[in-house]
Amino acid sequence: MKLLEYVNLEVVKSVRGKDLLTWFDYSSEEVKGLLDLAVQLKSLAKNGVHPPLLLGKTVGLIFEKHSTRTRISFEVGMNQLGGHAMYMHARDLQIGRGEPISDTGKVLSGYLDGIMIRANSHKMVEELAYSATIPVINGLTDLYHPCQALADLLTIHEVKGNLPGQKLAYVGDGNNVAHSLIIACAHLGVDVSIASPTGFEIDSNILAKAQQLAASNGSTIMTTTNPIEAVKNADVIYTDVWTSMGQEEETAARLQAFERYQINEELVQHAKSNYLFLHCLPAHREEEVATSIIDGQHSAVFQQAENRLHAQKAILASILA
Ligand code: CP
Ligand code: NVA
Repeated sequence: MKLLEYVNLEVVKSVRGKDLLTWFDYSSEEVKGLLDLAVQLKSLAKNGVHPPLLLGKTVGLIFEKHSTRTRISFEVGMNQLGGHAMYMHARDLQIGRGEPISDTGKVLSGYLDGIMIRANSHKMVEELAYSATIPVINGLTDLYHPCQALADLLTIHEVKGNLPGQKLAYVGDGNNVAHSLIIACAHLGVDVSIASPTGFEIDSNILAKAQQLAASNGSTIMTTTNPIEAVKNADVIYTDVWTSMGQEEETAARLQAFERYQINEELVQHAKSNYLFLHCLPAHREEEVATSIIDGQHSAVFQQAENRLHAQKAILASILA
């Protein structure tokens, strides 16, 4: 098997060995290249072809929080690429007993070819990436969820046929998923409108940087507190949970604050008639989304979840090449 025919060497050359903490650290060309590779790897996989691009490589998967999609898709992805993934819960490592993350990064660099980490604090992932000499991939922090965003773009591309000029409405909490989504959309020229209640908006620094990036790619990112305004004429409607992992104590207050922000039959009337519904999952039916919407004909949430596998294979194959 000629492995090189599967990868765009220009993209691999520019991202090889790089960390992936946020899409701000990547150029729009690099993000497009990764997306192209994801499309290619998905089509090969559907034909039963799994190019062994990472033979003999081992990636460590460190989790401080729960996961279904991220854990399984990284494990299966590494397997399909001919490599190996090792699941580690943070509490079982010595970091759970206070060993500095910087020492952990140096030690793991002696064994592994890369680390994927899901952590409470983005700062901790930055520290790990700083101390490790191997690539570190962010599998979700309090601020970002970049792997999810690449799968989201892949899904929109598959369903809509193209990305630039699409209008995506994000309705809900200005959280990690929203941050990575708007940056990824800015790279691909997707217009974004975000509706969040006061006090739960996107981080203002991330928004300003993403708006600048969007402008350089001919698209816009606007914010409002009005879900109807955000959803007006949207091609894609996206939402996430109102209470993220680690915020459980705020659940009651959040239920109240987000009451008007549910994606339901009434709200989607304002979108294009062929709108696409996306959600990173796990979802809370009848909270952020009505059951009829998430389980309805416009929803592609399970295709989106599957795309985590294909998108991450592209990321792994390029970064660890
Ligand atoms: N969307 C997502 O990251 O799912 P998990 O929490 O199951 O990994
Ligand atoms: N915003 C959610 C995403 C879960 C994949 C959380 O952080 O819990």
